[in-house]
Amino acid sequence: MSNRYAIILAAGKGTRMKSKLYKVLHQVCGKPMIRHVVDEVRQADFSSIYVVVGYGAEAVSSCVGDDAVCLLQKEQLGTAHAVLQASDRLAGQAGTTIVLCGDTPLVTHETIEQLIDAQEREHAAAAVLTAKLNNPAGYGRIIRTASGDLERIVEDKDATGEEKKVNEVNTGIYSFDNKLLFETLHKVGNENAQGEYYLPDVIQLLIQASKKVIARMTPHFEETVGVNDRIQLAAAEKYMRDRINRRLMAQGVTLIDPETTYISAETVIGQDTVIYPGTIIEGHTEIGSGCKIGPRTHVKNCRIGSESLVDQSVLEESWIGDWVEIGPFSHIRPLSKIHNQAHIGNFVEVKKSEIGERSKASHLTYLGDAVLGNDVNMGCGTITVNYDGKNKFATRIGNGAFIGCNANLVAPVTIGDGAFVAAGSTITESVNADALAIARSRQTNKENYALKLNYRVNP
Ligand code: UD1
Ligand code: MG
Repeated sequence: MSNRYAIILAAGKGTRMKSKLYKVLHQVCGKPMIRHVVDEVRQADFSSIYVVVGYGAEAVSSCVGDDAVCLLQKEQLGTAHAVLQASDRLAGQAGTTIVLCGDTPLVTHETIEQLIDAQEREHAAAAVLTAKLNNPAGYGRIIRTASGDLERIVEDKDATGEEKKVNEVNTGIYSFDNKLLFETLHKVGNENAQGEYYLPDVIQLLIQASKKVIARMTPHFEETVGVNDRIQLAAAEKYMRDRINRRLMAQGVTLIDPETTYISAETVIGQDTVIYPGTIIEGHTEIGSGCKIGPRTHVKNCRIGSESLVDQSVLEESWIGDWVEIGPFSHIRPLSKIHNQAHIGNFVEVKKSEIGERSKASHLTYLGDAVLGNDVNMGCGTITVNYDGKNKFATRIGNGAFIGCNANLVAPVTIGDGAFVAAGSTITESVNADALAIARSRQTNKENYALKLNYRVNP
């Protein structure tokens, strides 16, 4: 097989996004557009992958990382000029070069491979991927001869009224004979409405030089959605969400209502897990099998084991074991670790804490910078007092300890294994294993005193 190269164009400013963020860094289903494209391209077989960067070069390059070689296009003079930035590396080399745009996040590696295969199989100088759109406005139009052969591509801004009616568009994805591409790029001029060097002009130049150029129409038009503004960004998000949800359902995950379920591209979910409506799962999240997540739950960068239940809660950057129950209305904040069969109930906030196996904080509790052993019972309304206004301190609670309701555990403090803290105590000193700590004023009952107050309406 000959050498295959990929060039991803990502130097443009993205003026139409009206944003401080560089266009290709805008996210689709929680992942920057450029990463979607790079990740798909990496799944196909390329000897090298280049990304042309310009606006926000540093930010875009750091997003690409080591997964491609970034080439700087100092001035953005058009898509043909962008491809030329790879000429030091590629001009004169035998092989096939695919060119695609960093703002086309839905393209798949299968489509890329099919286009290359078609071009190589037909010994064509180039193959253009086209799509039929109901609303082709903004895209370059595919102009064919009366006999249906590809003639040229005309940009929306340069198109005549008749040409604007054509609904077959250039997707911005091409496969070229590498040598011919770089030979032809030098011939592209910039006499057009935008004063730019257009890559689609290479197609016309190749045709004029009697080279074979083919156009392949994709049946998956949604793959080719180019994102130039926020409306197209929302459209891309919808298609990507649908793709992710379908993939998960095909893998055996139940989504009660895919329309209101938002799951990131990186999320992995095991079989027979059920996701209830209104749930958002972001970042690199991994959920095991047989879980019930939601409704109205927000999970970000968490690992959740199998058979766990999470109901109407917020979970961030945390590790959750198997058979764990969380919610309704719990908040698990970053760096928490909740072990198997633990139970975190309503209005409980857990921050940077470890909760041992079978331990329970069932109601109205704050656990911050705490380490709980196994089988601990945290009474309702209990608080780890971890902050003195300047520093944070740790609370340690041993296996089998029982903390009564409405206790304050003023950190740093340790409660030994099996110790008992009486309800309403404010604990400022550590408690030994198996001890009972009571830290509250004694109750005094004054007999018949209430009668003196004479407050009853009907005595
Ligand atoms: C481009 C195509 C159009 C096609 C559409 C598909 C051209 C001239 N037009 O239009 O035929 O229908 O894509 O989505 O190619 N870029 C650079 N350097 C530059 C200019 C652009 O790297 O100097 C990059 C941009 O960052 C972007 C890509 O090239 O990722 C395409 O540029 P964009 O301005 O979005 O072109 P479109 O108007 O969408
Ligand atoms: Mg575009």
